[in-house]
Amino acid sequence: MLDYNASHFTFGMSTMPDSTIIGFEEAFGAHHYERIGVVVRQAKNCWLTDMNGRQYFDCLAAYSAANPGHHHPRIVSALVGALQGNYASVISNVVYTDPLGLFLRKMAELVPQLAPRFGANGNKVLPKNGGVESVETAIKMARFHGWKNKGIADGKQEIIVFDNNFHGRMITVVSFSSTPKYRNGFGPLTPGFVSVPYSDLDAVRAAIGPNTCGILVEPMQGEGGMRVPAPGFLQGLRELSDQHNLMLLFDEIQVGLGRSGKTFCFEHEQVVPDGLILGKALSGGLVPLSVFVTNAELMDQAFNIGSDGSTFGGYPLACVAGIAALEVLQEEDLAQRSAIQGDKLKKRIEEIARRSSHVKEVRGRGLFIGIEVREGNAMDFCRQLLDLGVLANDSHGHTIRISPPLTISDQEIDFITERLEKVLVG
Ligand SMILES: Cc1ncc(COP(=O)(O)O)c(C=O)c1O
Repeated sequence: MLDYNASHFTFGMSTMPDSTIIGFEEAFGAHHYERIGVVVRQAKNCWLTDMNGRQYFDCLAAYSAANPGHHHPRIVSALVGALQGNYASVISNVVYTDPLGLFLRKMAELVPQLAPRFGANGNKVLPKNGGVESVETAIKMARFHGWKNKGIADGKQEIIVFDNNFHGRMITVVSFSSTPKYRNGFGPLTPGFVSVPYSDLDAVRAAIGPNTCGILVEPMQGEGGMRVPAPGFLQGLRELSDQHNLMLLFDEIQVGLGRSGKTFCFEHEQVVPDGLILGKALSGGLVPLSVFVTNAELMDQAFNIGSDGSTFGGYPLACVAGIAALEVLQEEDLAQRSAIQGDKLKKRIEEIARRSSHVKEVRGRGLFIGIEVREGNAMDFCRQLLDLGVLANDSHGHTIRISPPLTISDQEIDFITERLEKVLVG
């Protein structure tokens, strides 16, 4: 029997010491993550607390899952209401539920008309759990489009992807990753992908062939080093997709839902994709929820009874969280807050960078900011930040990722920048 103490809410779920918790993970868990030694017992808005009451400012926000801040009270109370009201659990997919209907409508209407060349049919939404599942849904859609609408032989469809992409860790998606560690030993891999340099339109043009059915892109690369593409890149992808009738798929799992200073990252270039993938912040980081959204015509064409499904995809609890999180996004104007606070924070970081011998480049949009360090050892700086009470990590080894919850206050910007100053300037 574990030393489980549900009434001990002050420090989380149990009173067991950190060393015991770490020992359990070591002994019983797969070692697929490098952890940095802190055992978090509570998370509230932008702050994480350990057993001794020490607080850390969360500059990671679970890679955008915690955009509205941890345990946003409105999302928590919607979830508690659903659990106490007995409308939260998975119900067989042979019946309708009201949370799913309400969520689908809200989601479909929040996104501008996708793939308008297929008609003003509105959007339709296919819900899943983790983000990678919705990436795979999008891949299925693009392949189906290639087969049905372009006459490509089934099995020959190709999708253009980008070097240093990150779309998750399941077999099909790691099959086109540029990181050997994600793939090695896990073959046979899924064929049908051609990878070209990010932000390079000429390379995309050259890669388009008779079997190309789609382009899958992150409008800004998160894991690939917090990269913002060159102006005109997304617009160029749009034009090429129109010319060659390709499905243009944007993976906004990390950069959507306010993170970039706009509700959707594609709004920065006024480019509308044919398919959109969202996850992470879609439930406010409280339960797994992701979606693939596309033009209703295309969704109906590709998916009919039996051609897709998921036990938990669109289950009531996730939809309740999704509705509440989308309401918080809109009513608290999180995109605008991200734009304003991100602008302040980036300017302060740029000012520090001018006095630092370590910083090579500062880049980003909204509260998606990367600090590339010359020595390529971003994690060394992140460890120093942790000692000073800031949780951050690296992106692609060389870049410190600064992506706090979108609710960050001016005082919290002061808190982070004072600490960045210490580690980057001294
Ligand atoms: C751009 C992007 N796509 C897909 C994923 C995979 O999402 P998940 O880990 O929820 O499967 C991630 C996760 O970080 C991501 O950043």
